[in-house]
Amino acid sequence: MQPKGGTWAEFAVVDAHSLILPLPDGLDMEQAAALPVAGNTVLRALAPLGDLPAGATLFIAGGAGAIGTLAVQVARRRGWRVAASASAHNHEYLRSLGAEMTVDYHDDGWIEEIRGWAPHGVDAALAVHPGTSADALRVVADNGSVITISGDSEPSERGITLSMIDYAADVRGELLAMMEGVVSGAVHLEIEHVHPFAEAAEALDRVRTRHVRGKLVLRL
Ligand SMILES: NC(=O)c1ccc[n+]([C@@H]2O[C@H](COP(=O)([O-])OP(=O)(O)OC[C@H]3O[C@@H](n4cnc5c(N)ncnc54)[C@H](OP(=O)(O)O)[C@@H]3O)[C@@H](O)[C@H]2O)c1
Repeated sequence: MQPKGGTWAEFAVVDAHSLILPLPDGLDMEQAAALPVAGNTVLRALAPLGDLPAGATLFIAGGAGAIGTLAVQVARRRGWRVAASASAHNHEYLRSLGAEMTVDYHDDGWIEEIRGWAPHGVDAALAVHPGTSADALRVVADNGSVITISGDSEPSERGITLSMIDYAADVRGELLAMMEGVVSGAVHLEIEHVHPFAEAAEALDRVRTRHVRGKLVLRL
């Protein structure tokens, strides 16, 4: 959980009080490597939606990566109804995580499909894939919320609140609960592949395609 990245180090000096969490019994090192950065990001990104009641609707733009995989599940646990975009081959996967509605961002009509599912617009959208905030704005209801993971900046409209990851939010308790959920089976952690360290460059190339399902892990 280092604030400036650098998570490939075998040894690092960090603030034990703010940056270290105990690993729950039963979480192996590969799962432990895959969870905190994405989990931390998702929980901090969703922090501004803390008041959204059960039954509210959330659209996740780019739902099958590491961020989307956890965001769908956190949203479902809060009782929100979830729609998410990804390529068609990932739709069954997204539904297995709890998404109620899936759309393919390659299809021209996906915005209308979301509008059909939530006729007044969704209450909130999480713009995961870079550049998706503009599209997210188009499916959000008046006075709703768009949260951007990648830091897109769009002019707001119709009273919609645009926000970014809340780096000040303290999500350690929720992150610990998420890790315990992986151990108990309540949270699904998707690891597309575990690479030996010698394949780090190939792994990065795969990440750059932006089509990894869940996470890649390097084994030191
Ligand atoms: N992973 C982390 O731990 C982490 C932590 C902090 C921040 N972030 C940031 O969060 C963002 C998402 O990261 P990620 O790891 O979840 O994976 P990612 O590889 O950036 O995103 C994968 C998802 O984006 C979809 N996608 C690909 N091209 C798209 C497009 N043109 N329009 C809409 N969706 C598209 C993919 O769908 P298909 O494959 O189904 O086509 C898949 O659902 C990135 O900007 C990343 O830098 C990630």
